[in-house]
Amino acid sequence: MKQVQISAYGVPESVANCVDVPDVGQPDIGEVVFEVLAFPINPADIMFCRGNYRIRPSLPAVPGAECVGRVLTTGAGVTSIKPDDLVINLMRENWTQRRRVSEQDVVRLPSDINIRQAAMVRINPPTAYLLLKDFVALKPDDWIIQNVANSAVGRLIITMARQQGVRTINVTRREDVFAELKALGADICLLDGDDLAERASRQLNGEPIRLGFDAVGGESTKRMGQAICDEGVLVSYGSMSYSAPTVNVADLAFRGITLKGFMLGRALAKRDREGVQAIYHDLISQIVDGAIFAPVEAVYPIEKIREALAHSQRPAHGGKILVAPNGIV
Ligand SMILES: NC(=O)c1ccc[n+]([C@@H]2O[C@H](COP(=O)([O-])OP(=O)(O)OC[C@H]3O[C@@H](n4cnc5c(N)ncnc54)[C@H](OP(=O)(O)O)[C@@H]3O)[C@@H](O)[C@H]2O)c1
Repeated sequence: MKQVQISAYGVPESVANCVDVPDVGQPDIGEVVFEVLAFPINPADIMFCRGNYRIRPSLPAVPGAECVGRVLTTGAGVTSIKPDDLVINLMRENWTQRRRVSEQDVVRLPSDINIRQAAMVRINPPTAYLLLKDFVALKPDDWIIQNVANSAVGRLIITMARQQGVRTINVTRREDVFAELKALGADICLLDGDDLAERASRQLNGEPIRLGFDAVGGESTKRMGQAICDEGVLVSYGSMSYSAPTVNVADLAFRGITLKGFMLGRALAKRDREGVQAIYHDLISQIVDGAIFAPVEAVYPIEKIREALAHSQRPAHGGKILVAPNGIV
């Protein structure tokens, strides 16, 4: 079967190879074997290939934090999953044609879910959901601010905040996405820049911004920190600029803002298995209903992994880049 492996840590489109490896074999007791139908290339996968991610396994390594698959066979004792079921895998190493995992590690999906959307269920939807839930008890009409607002997570935050009646200030590095974000429910869209806090404040007539989400880092974090209110909370959950978050001492010490960090795995680990499953079931049903959605720009075959990786890192793309290892979905 075909699999993506990185042979070194470095520029993803140079270190990733599509190689032939032995098949996964038959499932053991309590295991399922599924074919991978599609996986997205997320910023964390790019960091993994570059060696900047929190885990750095020995080489060669198989990237891939998420995927959607169709079950081929199940081992003895498997009761909740059957052949032909669609599943997402809670384990890594998904840039491959087939996976053999424990029944406990997969979540079954409804058969009518859109396969491309299903490929992106595991990480970004719960991230948006938990960012809105875990830091500040938001009430209807509260304001939040976020950068990378046109990212997949940013768009989900806009939709989910709107569902709760929470209003969003959406910061991007380009203006051509404003109309799309407004159509999704964004209240205010602003370009990132030096006077961000003043521009946000003018639009709000003094109403406080209690919560901010930063996934850029560096000076952009500082601008977000200036924009939130005294005692407000700023959550760092990504670093698209590859720079560490920076915050003004005046904002931290004089105005008492708090800088916190978010990682999905840590947030899910605070919940029991039933709690995690309940979050996924809610998000999956919202995807089936079309209530939440992430745009897709292109789908590549696994043999074109290098082109897919290069594409995913170009600025200003219109949605996720997916790879379909067993034929285009
Ligand atoms: N902590 C967690 O557990 C967790 C979980 C999921 C995601 N995340 C993080 O969430 C962020 C968004 O992920 P995603 O999958 O939604 O991303 P995505 O859909 O691939 O979008 C990437 C976004 O980053 C922007 N961007 C790229 N380079 C930038 C730079 N140097 N400065 C400013 N903006 C830049 C892009 O802007 P243009 O469109 O203008 O190019 C785009 O809006 C990432 O940082 C990711 O690592 C964290």
